[in-house]
Amino acid sequence: MTDIASAPESAPGVRLADYRPPAFLVDEVHLDFRLAPSSTRVTARLTLRRNGGGDAPLVLNGRGLTPIRFAIDGIPLAADRYTVTSEDVTVRGVPDAFTFESEVEIDPDANRALEGLYTSGGRFYTQCEAEGFRRITWFPDRPDVLARYTVRIEAEATYPRLLSNGNLIDEGKLENGRHYAVWQDPFPKPCYLFALVAGDLDLLEDRFVTASGRSVVLRLFVDPGQAPRVAYAMDALKRAMRWDEENYGREYDLDLFMIVAVRDFNMGAMENKGLNIFNSSLLIADPETATDLDYERIESVVAHEYFHNWTGNRITCRDWFQLCVKEGLTVFRDQSFSADMRGEAVQRIKDVRALRARQFPEDAGPLAHPARPDHYRKIDNFYTATVYEKGAEIVRLLRTLIGPDDYRRGMDLYFQRFDGQAVTVEDFISCFAEVTGRDLSGVLSWYLQAGTPEVSVTPRYDAGAKTLSLDLRQAVAPTRGMADKVPLPIPLRLGLLDAEGRQQSFIAPGAVEPTGEAIVTFDKAEETVTLTGIAEEPVLSTLRGFSAPVTVTVAEPGESRFIRLANDPDLFNRWEAGQSLARDLMLARVKSKPDTAGERRFVDALGRAMADQSSEPAFKALLLALPSEQDLALAAPPADPAAIHEARDALRKLAAEVLRGQFEALHDGLVPMGAFSPDAESAGRRALRNAVLDMLMAAGTPSDIARAKAHADAARDMTTSLGGLSALMQAGGAAYDSAVAAFYTRWQDEPLVIDKWFALQARSPASDALDKVKTLTGHPAFDAKTPNRFRALVATFAQMNPVRFHDPSGAGYRFLADQIIAIDRFNPQVAARQLEPLGGWRRYKPELAALMKAELARILASPDLSPNVAELAGKALAE
Ligand code: ARG
Ligand code: ZN
Repeated sequence: MTDIASAPESAPGVRLADYRPPAFLVDEVHLDFRLAPSSTRVTARLTLRRNGGGDAPLVLNGRGLTPIRFAIDGIPLAADRYTVTSEDVTVRGVPDAFTFESEVEIDPDANRALEGLYTSGGRFYTQCEAEGFRRITWFPDRPDVLARYTVRIEAEATYPRLLSNGNLIDEGKLENGRHYAVWQDPFPKPCYLFALVAGDLDLLEDRFVTASGRSVVLRLFVDPGQAPRVAYAMDALKRAMRWDEENYGREYDLDLFMIVAVRDFNMGAMENKGLNIFNSSLLIADPETATDLDYERIESVVAHEYFHNWTGNRITCRDWFQLCVKEGLTVFRDQSFSADMRGEAVQRIKDVRALRARQFPEDAGPLAHPARPDHYRKIDNFYTATVYEKGAEIVRLLRTLIGPDDYRRGMDLYFQRFDGQAVTVEDFISCFAEVTGRDLSGVLSWYLQAGTPEVSVTPRYDAGAKTLSLDLRQAVAPTRGMADKVPLPIPLRLGLLDAEGRQQSFIAPGAVEPTGEAIVTFDKAEETVTLTGIAEEPVLSTLRGFSAPVTVTVAEPGESRFIRLANDPDLFNRWEAGQSLARDLMLARVKSKPDTAGERRFVDALGRAMADQSSEPAFKALLLALPSEQDLALAAPPADPAAIHEARDALRKLAAEVLRGQFEALHDGLVPMGAFSPDAESAGRRALRNAVLDMLMAAGTPSDIARAKAHADAARDMTTSLGGLSALMQAGGAAYDSAVAAFYTRWQDEPLVIDKWFALQARSPASDALDKVKTLTGHPAFDAKTPNRFRALVATFAQMNPVRFHDPSGAGYRFLADQIIAIDRFNPQVAARQLEPLGGWRRYKPELAALMKAELARILASPDLSPNVAELAGKALAE
């Protein structure tokens, strides 16, 4: 096995160390599209000039293009001047400045990889990041070649809307029922930001007046009949535009901003200049069909893509290794926006929960890589939680280290100095080093090292001196190709409580005045810091607000977590105390050593937290959501998913029994009243109501089942409806079966709701869940070619249903491997993303690990594997 396994790793890839500036720059691009579903003609005229001398030939990327002709300065190119391969064209003997013209034919209908130009629902869409533009025309497809684009689109009248980046400068009718439009984008851009959309679309239009008083037209395009359903997205867009002005001083720069929704899309959304393209699941929402989570994600993704206009588009990446210079930064910006819209603490808890669920396992497994990787085979495989979410944590940590004012001054300098350029992580950090005069090389180290730092804190209180010494240690486990790690700057936001849970003041190291909270930064492998002026033996509350992306262990009595859970003024740490208590209790059960007294005490504490009138429902809902089975599997390898499932159910059942009266009263008291509103407060009430019902179902008495049925039947919004269905699913039986069938009948014409219907069933804990999932792959509404539908069923099963996916027979693994092999034939990007559940085999008990490895090996040995899947499966198996 080792031979096959190591082959993709040793296969030539792209290395950061090999970066060279482009041999040619492109000043102008004229594109001419004659659209037809299976035979589109693309003519490109590039104005090129040599960059930095020499007489190198011109090399342009191109994949799957049928060449029709080439010309240089208007003269057709003789066949002996150029060589075409499956990846590029090389043209010899070119002058220092010239125009290069090419004409190609492409087949958008046949393009099910959904990269380049493709069709969906009879319309045309593009996706070019990272390397999709080369599937449209010959071009130096790299982010450091910035050009001005003029785009002419010609099509039949059955495609009424013809859209591209920038401003519409001409349009008109042609003979034989055809028409055309010409777009010009005044801002030089890399080709990955090019976009084209054509077809019959409805429109919601609005206006935004910028801080300096310019009026911008906002247009959201959707499938016919859907326009009213993007009102929330429009509202989010306007709030995001204002927020970027107020918080980063960034105004929108064109007179028109467009977003188009598309059903078939490989990921979430794309920030093409002036013409964002969104997965329809992240744009379309109405009270009946969208959940609160949908609203939340729409708000955050609309903001994310809009924020890219400055962090990504005006300032882009020099090469794809620098991806986090736009993604990590932009995620940090969208998280800050969401926190302002929805509340700091609740947002932070959700962000950290996502980081731990997706990024921590990646960082601890075979696919670990630095936020700025230094080599790859397929860049598509590096749109990861590490680049996005850990990248965001590093920017947040930078801001914590230097403070909000210097952070803003550094960002101002960044925009001023690098506008219109393609930059590196070093360029980004240099701005903050310059405004603070500080050595920030430690921040760069955060970008260069894979692995989650493990921090340990040993507090020692000296009652005589009234001091608290903290012995701090940090270490990062070795990751592939990086055995030795340097210590990183780690800011610990901390405070102290007394035995009654009241805040205690203290004097921070180097300070004179007492304070309630301080940031202590340590950047050595071991360091001791001393806090002074502390009246009594304190309970430490550290890493408040999750001030650094690390794991932390504090040597403290078990009692301390109960005190923080009940009293910590930092809500993040209050939640964290509950999570860590619950995790340890469940893990004790997994090891067949249940701590029944501790469990009872924890459940009583939960009950008091539920009764606390001063905290919000959204926060209570998060407290009730005990660590997931996946969290537990990560916490105590080698994991036994069946034992984990049982242990988690047992603690939930105890909570349901002890707190039944309180849960029932909450469930009755939180019945939604009045018209639906997606605001955070109302969403919090719905979340808490679903959470108590979910908890009650762990007991699952006949009256609980009746309650769940009534909950589902009375639902007027999708959050409540799905809350009821998933509660019924826990009990199974006739009530569940008929509710699932009725749901399908009611929503069969709403693809986004039917995605939820597939996803719900994929999460079923019933013993026949896998058989049902397999049957569903044959359902008339199942279509693996639509990524949303495929992910709803297959990815949900593999990622969200650990107990059934990890069936001891290996049937779950076999199913996933079969699906990966099948979709890899037409959509390698989506196929590769499904490998993660198998890649974590080292964390599972040996019998399961062996079965998981065998499926990875089977995938790797299957003929005609894409480089995307080969790279990740190879890495997952390599020693
Ligand atoms: N830039 C896009 C975003 O931030 C994502 C592009 C993902 N591309 C890919 N090949 N996976 O939302
Ligand atoms: Zn992004």
